[in-house]
Amino acid sequence: MNNSIKISPSILSADFSKLGNEVISLEKAGADYIHIDVMDGHFVPNLTIGPEVIKKLRPLTNKVFDVHLMISPVDNFIKEFARAGSDIITFHPEATHDTAKTIELIRKENKKVGISLKPNSSIDLIKNYLEQIDLVLIMSVEPGFAGQKFMPQVLEKTKNLKEIINKKNLNVDIEIDGGINFENCAKVKKAGANILVSGSTIFKENNGDLKKNIEILRKN
Ligand code: DX5
Ligand code: ZN
Repeated sequence: MNNSIKISPSILSADFSKLGNEVISLEKAGADYIHIDVMDGHFVPNLTIGPEVIKKLRPLTNKVFDVHLMISPVDNFIKEFARAGSDIITFHPEATHDTAKTIELIRKENKKVGISLKPNSSIDLIKNYLEQIDLVLIMSVEPGFAGQKFMPQVLEKTKNLKEIINKKNLNVDIEIDGGINFENCAKVKKAGANILVSGSTIFKENNGDLKKNIEILRKN
């Protein structure tokens, strides 16, 4: 089962003064995806990076760019993020007036579609779209900052979502994001998550030994 677990390190915890090298190091360390947190200071109270940075990183690696858009309204930027080199584009249903239309915009760019649920957002917001998407990103902290504490109440939501996906026999990944560490990673996998995002744990534990930290998150 562990073979199907993917680790998606969040570059939010990287050293932005050498971002290109950090991405290359993550690839060498065995990352499956590169998680890119895009924040607009409006949907969430923080600002990060835009499409231009993704475009500059794109030639450095073939790894999947797992782009988490925390911007509102999101539709106007889909095309730009797609063409900058995103592979998976994930948005929050609260950031669009028409979830079906946003899914369609991402599909038109031939990108994988993800929808993200904040800790208090219900599965009901996305239940009707599961057939049309590739991934659900469950937030286990309030989106906006790295280094926050994992909210264990999302485990129940993860289990429920996994059940729905299995019942419908769908091929939808469950990704989990926020406060993932060496202790809770087994629990989130057991609940049904198969893609683990991690910033602080991967960049800070064991003196920043990326390879070791990715391996522990994968195997624990
Ligand atoms: C928070 C971001 C996360 C965050 C993860 O809004 O979506 O990807 O960077 O960082 P850690 O693992 O430190 O919680
Ligand atoms: Zn994220």
